Amino acid sequence: MKKIKVSAPGKLMLFGEHAVVYGHPCIVTAIDQRVNVSVERTLRSFVGIEAPDMRVTDYKKEVSLLGKDVNIPKGVKFLEIAVKNFFEKYKVRSGLKIKTKSEFSSEFGFGSSSAVTVGVTKALSELFNVGLKRQELFDLSYKTVLDILGVGSGFDLAAAIWGGTLWFVGGGKTVIPLQKEELPIVVGYTGIKADTPSLVRQVAELRKGKSKLVEEIFKSITSITKEGRDSLERGDCVRVGQLMNLNQTLLMALGVNTKELSLLINAARSAGALGAKLSGAGGGDCMIALVEPNKRLVVERAIEQAGGKVLKVNTNAEGVRNE
Ligand code: MEV
Repeated sequence: MKKIKVSAPGKLMLFGEHAVVYGHPCIVTAIDQRVNVSVERTLRSFVGIEAPDMRVTDYKKEVSLLGKDVNIPKGVKFLEIAVKNFFEKYKVRSGLKIKTKSEFSSEFGFGSSSAVTVGVTKALSELFNVGLKRQELFDLSYKTVLDILGVGSGFDLAAAIWGGTLWFVGGGKTVIPLQKEELPIVVGYTGIKADTPSLVRQVAELRKGKSKLVEEIFKSITSITKEGRDSLERGDCVRVGQLMNLNQTLLMALGVNTKELSLLINAARSAGALGAKLSGAGGGDCMIALVEPNKRLVVERAIEQAGGKVLKVNTNAEGVRNE
């Protein structure tokens, strides 16, 4: 039987996290660490899933029951709901064998759930000859993510689909590819897994009580994101670094920074990084630092001495592709 293999990249947020949830722009870059997904049709009545990175082996679900349990295990949720949504939208059904393998840990906050969702939706599109365009792939994948999490801008899906470095406006209304050069960044992992939906809800709570103030913060983040885009396109790394520092200050004002993130960010800055900030929802996960080539090693060492784990990551990676 025909077998489709695809891979989709993870992501790092450069500017605009949280504000993007409220319709403001952000800048996201796809990274060269990918999630591989293979899908083949079977003559069985169930969908079988092997996702060893998510500690899922030999999971089986009858096609007619897809998405029906309240307690679908975390490791297969995105795969199962993505298949259900695809079957419903394109009025197809079949037994399937799905396998996933990730090049990065789901603990890092690189967007493994989104990459897996895009990967399986793209693979199904190939398997059933639907020929989904990028925007259609985005819309269907975004439905899956919202069905499961209830919140999110979808920026990580856009990174997994388009790849490169993108200007993204919440909900996928605008996706514009930006400059193509590799960004000299160092990534430090705090060792703490953040829960994105609860951080998004935390900011929503803050916004409820202090809506004007929080809207002003979002507006300032938007100004930074816009200038970040110009500076990236001009190749002005010094300015990009300053803007990252400013963005970090506003994320601190939103209350999503942590002691561990601060330790790594301050260590990177003291070691000579041009700028540093958290990347993503905050609450843990990773920070990023922009570095000149001659400072990379010192900054990496400083992050490690401050208790972080340096992750070797290149930016501007290719979007979802057949393997
Ligand atoms: C999380 O990585 C980034 C947030 O802006 C949430 C989202 O855009 O979906 C906090």
